[in-house]
Amino acid sequence: MKILVIGGAGYIGSHMVKMLGQKKCYVTTLDNLASGHRDAVLIGDFVQGDYGDPVLLDSLLARGFDAVMHFASLIQVAESVQHPDDYYRNNFVNTLSLLNSMKKHKIKYFIFSSSAAIFGEPIYNPIDETHTQLPINPYGRTKLMVEQLLGDYDRAFGIKSVCLRYFNAAGADPEGQLGERHNPETHLIPLILQAAKGKLSHINVFGRDYDTPDGTCIRDYIHVNDICSAHWLALLSLLRGEDSQSYNLGNGNGFSVKEIIETAEKVTGQIIFQVDSPRRDGDPSRLIADSRLAHERLGWRPQYTEIKNIIEHAWRWERFFNI
Ligand code: UFG
Repeated sequence: MKILVIGGAGYIGSHMVKMLGQKKCYVTTLDNLASGHRDAVLIGDFVQGDYGDPVLLDSLLARGFDAVMHFASLIQVAESVQHPDDYYRNNFVNTLSLLNSMKKHKIKYFIFSSSAAIFGEPIYNPIDETHTQLPINPYGRTKLMVEQLLGDYDRAFGIKSVCLRYFNAAGADPEGQLGERHNPETHLIPLILQAAKGKLSHINVFGRDYDTPDGTCIRDYIHVNDICSAHWLALLSLLRGEDSQSYNLGNGNGFSVKEIIETAEKVTGQIIFQVDSPRRDGDPSRLIADSRLAHERLGWRPQYTEIKNIIEHAWRWERFFNI
């Protein structure tokens, strides 16, 4: 099978490229390296370029692909509030032109990296696929707009898609070859591990007055390889002729910021200094996924469900590889 992975040099995309190689697929990565890393693309062809470049996209898709996987979004909520123009252009407009190129070249299958951010402030937890979709920032709105676009492109043009709404992607390649390398890093687990390593002096705890048992925010952390296995199963579901669908991806367990820091202290054997900081804008107190639909329809079973295990993999990467 020939698969184009857009954003395959980034955190989740690079793990996906490796997994597709293990599945004996022919993989081509398209990445502009704005935030990705060339050395994270372990197999297949690599094309450096922007997926918003229609000429490049047209010549690339003319090579013929069975499916496209799209990981090339801008992902920072706060930045999306300050620069909505960049977010609507990169995450929505460029995806629209990508889908138009797919239509032209008769590529029928598309797997999209969506986000829990499409739900906005949760009305209930765990969040299932029927939960109201009212994103509260431009980032979440761009993801929801693409989901809606995909519904219309399925009905009109027969492009079949699966949208996978990640909750909190975490962890690293269990074999230690890949991991999280955002710049700037804003995510909780890598920042805690950078503090454990001495690269940062402390971790800021954004709010201790939330309506949760210990006052800090609760999130559902899902291993990056489990996200990738959901992508693979999603692709197989489309190839079997199943309908387009959206799935929420998480473990169904919530961990507070305080619990994550305590687990990281056990894993690393280091004391992690904490500084109490104000709440970060737009952070819901609790986000937990109900992923039963993905279990039932895709046969998806997360393999790395222990938070300790997820942090161990991230720590091995942070400690030995992410110098
Ligand atoms: N946090 C801290 N200190 C930090 C960083 C984070 O206390 O230095 C807290 C946050 O306030 C939040 C939790 O740790 O409560 C997790 O924060 P992350 O930044 O790691 O992840 P988010 O939950 O904010 O974001 C994730 C994805 C986004 C997506 C969002 C969906 O990374 O792309 O879930 O709501 F939009």
